[in-house]
Amino acid sequence: MANPKVFVTRAIPEGGMRLLEAVCAVEVWPGEAPPPREALLERVQGAAGLLCMVTDRVDAALFDAAGPGFKVVSNLAVGFNNIDVTEATQRGVPIGNTPGVLTETTADLAFGLLVAAARRLVEGADMARAGAWTAWGPTLLLGRDVHGATLGIVGMGRIGEAMARRARGFDMKVIFSDPAGKAAGCGLDEVLAEADFVSLHVPLTQATRGLVGDRALSLMKPTAVLVNTARGEVVDTDALVRALSSGTIAAAALDVTDPEPLPPSHPLLFLPNCLVVPHLGSASLATRDRMSVMAAQNILAGLRGERLPNCVNPQVYEGKALVPR
Ligand code: GLV
Repeated sequence: MANPKVFVTRAIPEGGMRLLEAVCAVEVWPGEAPPPREALLERVQGAAGLLCMVTDRVDAALFDAAGPGFKVVSNLAVGFNNIDVTEATQRGVPIGNTPGVLTETTADLAFGLLVAAARRLVEGADMARAGAWTAWGPTLLLGRDVHGATLGIVGMGRIGEAMARRARGFDMKVIFSDPAGKAAGCGLDEVLAEADFVSLHVPLTQATRGLVGDRALSLMKPTAVLVNTARGEVVDTDALVRALSSGTIAAAALDVTDPEPLPPSHPLLFLPNCLVVPHLGSASLATRDRMSVMAAQNILAGLRGERLPNCVNPQVYEGKALVPR
C-alpha cells in the first residue's frame, strides 16, 4: 500500500520531518508565509493527515476538501483556536497539539518582554543604533524596577505558573486570577488594579476574547505594563492603542497581536511605549525541534488508528475501537 499522504503547512525542524518521512508521503508548503486558503484546501485533498500551524484555519470546508480518507490533524502549537474542534469531533477526526514542551520557553519570553518593557531596552537599543547615545545621562531612559514589583498573572495554567516561578526569583510579589476557574486566585479586577505588571496566559476562547478592553485597561495603574504572550484577540487592540496613547497604562509588550501580523502602518508599531515581537513564544531551537517531534508523533499515531499522545478532543475515542499503542 502507498505511504499515506501528509500535508505539512510549513517547513518544520528536522526531528519531526525525519519521523514523518520514514513512513509517509510528505508534502511541505514551501516558503515562510502560510499557504493561502485556496492552496491549503487544494493541497489537503486526498491527505490522510495534516500537520498545521496556528496560522492555518481548520474547519468544515477543510475537512470536506480533504475527503473521506482524512484521519488526523496535528497543530504545531499548544493553542488550537485556529481549529474548529467541535466540527472535527463530529467528524471523528482527532486533533493533536504540543503541550508542556513549550511551557518554560514561552515563560522565558514573557519574562524577557516584561523586563524589556520595564527597563526600556528596545528604546535604548534603538537610540544606541541610531547614534543618538551621546553621553551617560542621570535621567536618560529611566524605567521601572522589576524586583519588588507586583506581577499579576491572568491565567494560571502551565505557562502562568512558570511565569510566577521566574517572578519569585526576581523578588516580585505574585498575584493571579484564573478566569477558567481551575486555580483559586483573586478576581480579575483585583489583579488588574493591584499589579505593576499584568501578564496574560489564558487560551483564546469565547470567554477570553476581548477580556482586556477599555474597562479592564482603565482598572490598571497608570504606571502598569501589560505583557501578552497568549493570543492577540484576548486584548481589544483599539482599546490598547487608546490606553497607551492617553497614559491610561504605561506600556505594553506584545508577542501576539490582533490582527497578526499587524499591518506595517499600525499605531502599535509606532508608540514608543509599545514593544511588539513576532509571535516568538516557543521559538527556541530546542523547543521547536521537540514540538516538531511531538506533532509528528500525533500524526503517526492518528494514521495508525491509535490514540494521539496529545489529543485535544479525546471524545472522538468514545465508543471507538482503537489500535492499542
Ligand atoms: C503558540 O502560540 C502556541 O500556542 O503554541
